Amino acid sequence: NDLAPFIAGLPKAELHLHIEGSLEPELMFALARRNRVAIPFDSVEAVRAAYSFSNLQDFLNIYYAGADVLRVEQDFYDLADAYFARAAADGVVHAEIFFDPQTHTDRGIPFQVAADGLLAAMDDAAQRHGVTSKLILCFLRHLDEAAAFATLKAAEPWLDRIAGVGLDSSEVGHPPEKFARVFAAAGGMGLKRVAHAGEEGPPDYVWQALDLLNVDRLDHGNRSLEDPALVRRLADDGMTLTVCPLSNHKLCVVPDLASHPIDRMLESGLRATINSDDPAYFGGYVADNYRAVATARGLGKADLATLARNSFTGSFLDDAEKARHI
Ligand code: ADE
Ligand code: ZN
Repeated sequence: NDLAPFIAGLPKAELHLHIEGSLEPELMFALARRNRVAIPFDSVEAVRAAYSFSNLQDFLNIYYAGADVLRVEQDFYDLADAYFARAAADGVVHAEIFFDPQTHTDRGIPFQVAADGLLAAMDDAAQRHGVTSKLILCFLRHLDEAAAFATLKAAEPWLDRIAGVGLDSSEVGHPPEKFARVFAAAGGMGLKRVAHAGEEGPPDYVWQALDLLNVDRLDHGNRSLEDPALVRRLADDGMTLTVCPLSNHKLCVVPDLASHPIDRMLESGLRATINSDDPAYFGGYVADNYRAVATARGLGKADLATLARNSFTGSFLDDAEKARHI
């Protein structure tokens, strides 16, 4: 549509991006070959055809299987390098990216392999594309508290390069309260805190993320809209929500993009942002997400500019850096 050039030219921060979710089928095949890893697909087309999900768990099963091709530092470098090239082309000037260390350490790939590969690509992206970035370590919530503590411990040598901790994976049945003590420890180490909540889980999980995890930012948060008191709380706190429209559609959080609540969120005073979540799996990077909701919900330039501005306000850049972008 005719907003495409405006969207591409709008400086944006991306605040909700799982780097493992940016693994395009072409790179998956290349890494499978390079590392002599068998994958259960004959072709790139067959991989894409398998990307039809009826809920979060459906997606996660395929996403964790795909990550198995990531074996050595160069693989993580290539993964992030490809993401930053895409992001830069979309007008992203700053990205705060998630990685799931346990997905790798549980396969015998040391924390250091993933972290060093990603950090090297982040450094090069700043030079090559002028895209700054921060790294957020996510705990897998389907695993237990002890495993999360072990991951936090493994991260200690990298703490000067890690901005914060997050919480992702299967939401329902794994409430934030399960990780209250880990998040308290992370906060005590000076780390920022974010958590996925209210994607499939109920509003109570969002309350827990606020009150028990003390999050600095909320990932998704869609189901907060079911609870007016919660919406008021999020608005009063100036809490940033990292909303992911194409993901919401592909994971059936919304039945179609035409019923996406992004504009309702803004009207309710919520500081919503637009993000891509797992772009290789959900059919689009950040500009695709802006374009898709702009079309589906009839957003104009003012709304799009608000969403982009919110992405810097809600970022973990310092105030001087934010001021340079806003
Ligand atoms: N891991 C990767 N993408 C995710 C999502 N949308 N929700 C929960 N965990 C995830
Ligand atoms: Zn996510």
